[in-house]
Amino acid sequence: MKAFVAVVALASAIIAAPAMADLELAKKSGCLACHSVDAKVVGPGWKDVAAKYKGDSTGRDALIAKVKGGGKGNWTAVTGGVPMPPYSPRVADADIEKLVDFILAL
Ligand code: HEC
Repeated sequence: MKAFVAVVALASAIIAAPAMADLELAKKSGCLACHSVDAKVVGPGWKDVAAKYKGDSTGRDALIAKVKGGGKGNWTAVTGGVPMPPYSPRVADADIEKLVDFILAL
């Protein structure tokens, strides 16, 4: 029984680990100053972003371009028109793609 509990705990830790790593990357990259997963901070909540682009096949590329180059206009009703700052080349392209994939999977 103890071994079973240990295995279940370990498996949950392994499943949770990638999401934790992505959140850590978001924190390290400074995103969490303006975003949270669940709610609007300065920018829109990331679950809302995922919902907005669900089923939109061009969404991933558009979001990668937005995080790299910054911009505004897609969330004016939520943000009052505050722009998202540009992150390229401060954050590596591979990390930006990782962050967008993490957000879209929420
Ligand atoms: C200074 C505040 C700020 C920081 C820091 C910030 N964002 Fe944003 N973010 C915004 C705002 C404001 C918007 C809404 C832009 C708009 O209206 O189109 C936004 C929008 C977004 C969107 C949705 C874009 C769209 O066009 O729908 C994504 C995805 C996103 N941010 C990811 C990130 C990631 C990843 C980081 C870190 C690398 C980050 N943000 C850092 C303020 C910020």
